[in-house]
Amino acid sequence: MEQYDVLVVGSGGAGQRAALEAARRDGLRVALITKIFPTRSATAMAQGGVNAALNNVAKEDSTEVHTFDTVKGSDYLGDQDAIEFFCQRCPEGVLEMDFMGTPFSRTDEGKIAQRNFGGQSYPRTCYSADKTGHVILHTTYEQCLKEGVHFLQEWYLLDIVVKDGKAGGAIIWNMKKGKVEIIKAKSIVLSTGGAGRVFWTRTTNPFLSTGDGMAVAFRAGVGLKDMEMIQFHPTGLGKTGILMSEAVRGEGGYLLNVEGERFMKKYAPNKMELASRDVVAKAIEDEIAAGRGFNGSGLDAYVVADLRHLGPEVIIEKLHGIRDLALCFEHCDPLTDPVPIRPTCHYIMGGIDVVDYKTCATEVPGIFASGEASCISIHGANRLGGNSLADGVVFGKVSGAGAADYAQASAFADCDAELKAKAEEWEAKFVEVTSRTSGRPVAEIRDELAVAMWNKVGIFRNEAGITEALEVIDRLTKEYETCYVGDSNRTYNMAFVNYVEIKSMLTVAKAIALGALHRKESRGAHVREEFPKRDDSQYLKHAIWKLGENGEYVMSERDVVFTKYEPQERKY
Ligand code: FUM
Repeated sequence: MEQYDVLVVGSGGAGQRAALEAARRDGLRVALITKIFPTRSATAMAQGGVNAALNNVAKEDSTEVHTFDTVKGSDYLGDQDAIEFFCQRCPEGVLEMDFMGTPFSRTDEGKIAQRNFGGQSYPRTCYSADKTGHVILHTTYEQCLKEGVHFLQEWYLLDIVVKDGKAGGAIIWNMKKGKVEIIKAKSIVLSTGGAGRVFWTRTTNPFLSTGDGMAVAFRAGVGLKDMEMIQFHPTGLGKTGILMSEAVRGEGGYLLNVEGERFMKKYAPNKMELASRDVVAKAIEDEIAAGRGFNGSGLDAYVVADLRHLGPEVIIEKLHGIRDLALCFEHCDPLTDPVPIRPTCHYIMGGIDVVDYKTCATEVPGIFASGEASCISIHGANRLGGNSLADGVVFGKVSGAGAADYAQASAFADCDAELKAKAEEWEAKFVEVTSRTSGRPVAEIRDELAVAMWNKVGIFRNEAGITEALEVIDRLTKEYETCYVGDSNRTYNMAFVNYVEIKSMLTVAKAIALGALHRKESRGAHVREEFPKRDDSQYLKHAIWKLGENGEYVMSERDVVFTKYEPQERKY
């Protein structure tokens, strides 16, 4: 049994920033576990930038305007006290990254360069060409190594043990050795990223974004909040759904339908392509449904992003990664051809219910959450582009400090027996599931889940479709109990890892679908066809789902926090 004061799970921007903060405290032993190599986390794929009102490009910008843009972007579901706290800390967070050595692109004056992004009043998104997440992650990793964070890579979280209502430690699958490990910890930070692979069919997320931290937190008694709020990024590459950064539109690229029309003028006459993501994604789908897409209106339909007028200087200097992706996956060169694009699942605004934004604590003492895995809630019903890396930078640090404070004030829980019993349970499960010789192949369960989620709980939703998806999820959950895993080896048994991940996806998918069924209105990214309008009289509330005693999902509600911004109709 290993023992650490603070255990961070997940090596994306938020997790590493949390570990760094905790490791800077004298005398604390800090470990970070990750199911991959740390710098391969999803953050490495975040392209366009990180928001902070630094005023390097627009002197009129301020943290207050950033706060308002974020509140409006969230379609008034974000908690305004938390959003204010966040926006006030973004400049410090980005400057800290700069001082640590992040190679940001620069203005002519040598300041951090900032570009336009959707839903923002001013150019506020600090960037490093189109590889911002990649450079932030590598910089944080170097600092973590310097501060002595103990990285345990290819260690995969299975469960958290809670004793007397407090976190006691974690049960881990050591992928390399093929064995169950135990880590006793005073505090645990879940920064395990998103769950985009629930929408396997089209997502920008890597294969590892399977909602593991959310599912583990749910089993440990923590709520999942606003899970129906799934962001579909407007510009996924046509064939694959791979991310084509909002930076493309921020730098002046525009969207055209099959008639060559810049159709955003009908949907967002002021902001055009730089309206918030929910607005642009829905507009693209409306164009395709109305027969104005290329290639019909089925799954292969698309509109195009035209960058040609930006010229080689901008494309090659600022968008070279995107050009590479377009060349590789669409066989077209943005210098000379418009690029096929269509919305793709990108981000989950909901997540592990954080009840104190000043520490990132959850309701279970000792369990903290940050980054995409968490719901604080600053993104509400729609996250602004560039606020995700900023969330990682700001709340990664806050969660690390929160977990460190908690660990410094607490003793280890007296839970060795419970930790060992849970580890034995997982060992027995490994043996049993990997020795099965029949059952439905677990990958089939994943694929059927993804198709149901994309078709029935995707960009457009209605009661009949969501109900059908819930029936599919319940049937797949039963089939999962006897499914075929297919590999009984211990070392690098990825079939077993996929088996556990698919359970996470089923758990998270059910919360998404239940949340979508509950919310009988359209708000931000959540579009209910029968209820096309926002209903502030009933739904200015967060929906929180917890695991009931008999395995059922139990919902409670919490009012959205308002400070100074009254809900208004959103216009871009
Ligand atoms: O489009 C992008 O570059 C993505 C950024 C984000 O999701 O914040």
